[in-house]
Amino acid sequence: MTVADDAAAAFRKEYGSEPTGLWAAPGRVNLIGEHTDYNEGFVLPFALPMRTIAAAAPGGEGWSACSSLAQDPVSFGVAEAGAPGAVDGWGGYVAGVVWALRDAGYTVPPARIAIASDVPLGSGLSSSHALECAVLTALADLGGLEIAIEERPKLVQRSENVYVGAPTGIMDQSASLRCTADHALFLDCRTYAVEQIPFDLSAAGLTILIINSNAPHHHSDGEYGARRKSCEEAARILGVPALRDVPADGLDAALARLDDPVMRRRVRHVVTEDQRVLDTVELLKSGRIREIGPLLTASHASMRDDFEITVDQVDVAVQAALDAGAYGARMTGGGFGGCVVALIDTDRASEVTKSVDAAYAERGFTPATAWVAVASAGATKL
Ligand code: GLA
Repeated sequence: MTVADDAAAAFRKEYGSEPTGLWAAPGRVNLIGEHTDYNEGFVLPFALPMRTIAAAAPGGEGWSACSSLAQDPVSFGVAEAGAPGAVDGWGGYVAGVVWALRDAGYTVPPARIAIASDVPLGSGLSSSHALECAVLTALADLGGLEIAIEERPKLVQRSENVYVGAPTGIMDQSASLRCTADHALFLDCRTYAVEQIPFDLSAAGLTILIINSNAPHHHSDGEYGARRKSCEEAARILGVPALRDVPADGLDAALARLDDPVMRRRVRHVVTEDQRVLDTVELLKSGRIREIGPLLTASHASMRDDFEITVDQVDVAVQAALDAGAYGARMTGGGFGGCVVALIDTDRASEVTKSVDAAYAERGFTPATAWVAVASAGATKL
């Protein structure tokens, strides 16, 4: 059974009929550019082959959704879809998309939706955005809504920010909706311009290994919001619209104008990270893939020391991967747990995995899980 089969089966079981169609939206990893999106800077994610599938059909009074992940079914009408937060739990991600579409003036058809997914939950691979993007893509098609591709991530971000109440940026939705197979998505988070950067590693004998630290997430929501606030406050003090506007060669001068040492570190991360994204893109464009390794590792050090969003498990996984010969490694995603990406020679995958396993065993950590990442397609109707 594929995930698509699961979604179709869940639909039949819940609603006793066939879905009109199946819509898929992937999870993502971010190659580099962390906590830069809400600073209007640059990111470079790619889509995973793991996807969330929405099997859907029009009809009913309002909207209902069920999930093969054994979560309680939800249903809601116009009133709940009009009141941010009215539907909570997993259904809030569905209701939030309906809200965002309606709030933007679209007529959203009543619909029944069944969800299945193989995007790991709570691992920083953007499972919630995959759900929202699958639902958005399904509802847009069912309603014949003409929504430009560059508008879609903004709608999902509004759903997340206003309905669900999480202050996230625009990277995850953009990755899920706009990535293409064998490419990383170079996104300018101010202009929303994208460039598809060729990212077919196999020809170069290289692999990105994803290592799930399996570290429990602690306080990630509050810490995320605190980082964002600190960045916005720094931009205000510096008199710029966003930290994106602090050039790399103006960093020292900017830091000298900030009194708070913590804020100085946050700013240093964001400004240097934007530059690392630009440098990574240049290297990838000229086919010098191995050379991005040190940029990935520098990004990790910056997240660990300046942005302070890593935990022991991810630091240990990064170091173990480097010890086993990775060209570079870094935590990916919002932080406080989640996954590490490591750039390795394909034939070293088992050495790297063993190195991580040994380092984890030595420290008594819950074992990590690892798999090879393939840059995959964005959201689509199946
Ligand atoms: C989470 C958010 C994104 C982004 C990353 C950090 O994934 O959803 O918007 O801020 O963290 O880069």
